[in-house]
Amino acid sequence: MVAVLAPADRAELPVFENLFQYYHYDFAEILGGHHVREDGRFSVPSLEPYWTEPWRHPFLLRVDGHPAGFALVQRRSRITGDPETWDVAEFFVMRQYRRHGVGAQAAFEVFDRLRGRWEVRQVQANVAATSFWRRVIGQYTGGRYTEEVLDDDRWRGPVQRFDNYIGA
Ligand SMILES: CC(C)(COP(=O)(O)OP(=O)(O)OC[C@H]1O[C@@H](n2cnc3c(N)ncnc32)[C@H](O)[C@@H]1OP(=O)(O)O)[C@@H](O)C(=O)NCCC(=O)NCCS
Repeated sequence: MVAVLAPADRAELPVFENLFQYYHYDFAEILGGHHVREDGRFSVPSLEPYWTEPWRHPFLLRVDGHPAGFALVQRRSRITGDPETWDVAEFFVMRQYRRHGVGAQAAFEVFDRLRGRWEVRQVQANVAATSFWRRVIGQYTGGRYTEEVLDDDRWRGPVQRFDNYIGA
């Protein structure tokens, strides 16, 4: 399995919109209480801003050349609003490629491209994602990260933080 993560063109927006249906399908199972519309599709937010707002960064993941997932990153803390902090807004690997190290490889590639303070968040119920991120960030940072579990209006669930800034 050859996994490649690359910044996505605006022309690839429809690919993200389609993959987002599978992403929401997974979250419907994790969170409960989410249903498809009468047309059988989940209502998903517009992803267009990832190509119109400079602080948003879309990356498409391909495995053996096929669309296989994505990483959507924002340069704005979801917790504090800090415009210097990188935030992993959405991250997804399709089921048939999971548990082969693809997600870890994609995460390392994103972190290596964007340097500085990072925040990675999981909703409380997404325990698999928390295991994944603890493992990946632990490896990436050699254990030099912090974790805080929030339970208020800012966020409900674990938040890992680290800094991969390389000094000049
Ligand atoms: C979470 C997710 C991205 C992991 O992708 P992946 O390609 O399967 O991850 P990797 O194969 O690189 O896993 C690396 C390590 O993370 C941990 N891990 C990954 N998935 C896990 C799971 N479901 N349960 C427990 N630990 C897990 C394991 O330690 C794994 O190493 P191992 O397979 O040798 O045990 C994928 O399951 C996914 O897209 N889930 C649905 C969407 C989601 O939850 N996104 C994250 C939002 S914060």
